[in-house]
Amino acid sequence: MNLLDGKLVSAKIKEDIKKDAADFTAQAGRKPHLVAILVGNDGGSETYVASKMRNCELVGFESTNIRYDVDVTEEQLIAKIQEINADASIDGLIVQLPLPKHIDPDKITEAIDYRKDVDGFHPINLGRMQRNLPCFIPATPYGIMLMLDYYKIETAGKHAVVVGRSNIVGSPMSILLARNANPGNCTVTLTHSRTKDLKTEVLRADIIVAAIGKKNFVTADMVKDDAVVIDVGINREDSIETKSGFKLYGDVDFDQVAPKASWITPVPGGVGLMTIVGLLKNTLEAAKGTIYPRS
Ligand code: GUN
Repeated sequence: MNLLDGKLVSAKIKEDIKKDAADFTAQAGRKPHLVAILVGNDGGSETYVASKMRNCELVGFESTNIRYDVDVTEEQLIAKIQEINADASIDGLIVQLPLPKHIDPDKITEAIDYRKDVDGFHPINLGRMQRNLPCFIPATPYGIMLMLDYYKIETAGKHAVVVGRSNIVGSPMSILLARNANPGNCTVTLTHSRTKDLKTEVLRADIIVAAIGKKNFVTADMVKDDAVVIDVGINREDSIETKSGFKLYGDVDFDQVAPKASWITPVPGGVGLMTIVGLLKNTLEAAKGTIYPRS
């Protein structure tokens, strides 16, 4: 078993981003700038946004966190998004999900200017991704592709099974793995809650992407020998063992599955760190105007 080490790969790529950001800042007279909107007090979301902001500072970006109480209206959020869309000093905008029930995430996503949509969730970016055109790629799938690329994992002709069809991970991941690109060119099965006999499907996989949000969901009896196992799960449980007061578990039963896998990502220390890298790369591209020219 070999480890797909998110700590190592993210640190290396962040060094490159830091250099590029310094060049951009010297030329443009300002830093790349990411704004993150956070609504309410969800513990996980607070941690993720804080980490995104901290990593922006680390690579030399400016970052702004705008917070709203849980009872903010859809209209208020959209008005803020429109203000940011029109602000030329802001390159990227993300609205942390999930949002409270009274706010329609699709409306919010579509209100963001697709040229600042560094989450890659806007239908224009998703459509362009499917067509293999330049676009912002959702951060987690992007980070996974960067990891596969770094370790030169052979993907062409392999059977990839994605577990979970979320808009954020499973669905875009299935598109990326199937694209005529490298990494890519997989035969992809996208499985979900209505899949019949999930175990048999996952057992066929050369590459497993587990993105279902259930602790230790993928067990050893579901994994073929020498499979590549990508664990997207970040399941938080309260714990008295850690300083933070919680412990993270993946969607894969690591201890059982690792001996069978050729490559596997740990949790923590795997995909989560690569997600940040995907977001930082998108933000830098937005600032430089390499994907969508600055108007
Ligand atoms: N919630 C979980 N993952 C993500 C992400 O990548 N972006 C946003 N905006 N919200 C999330």
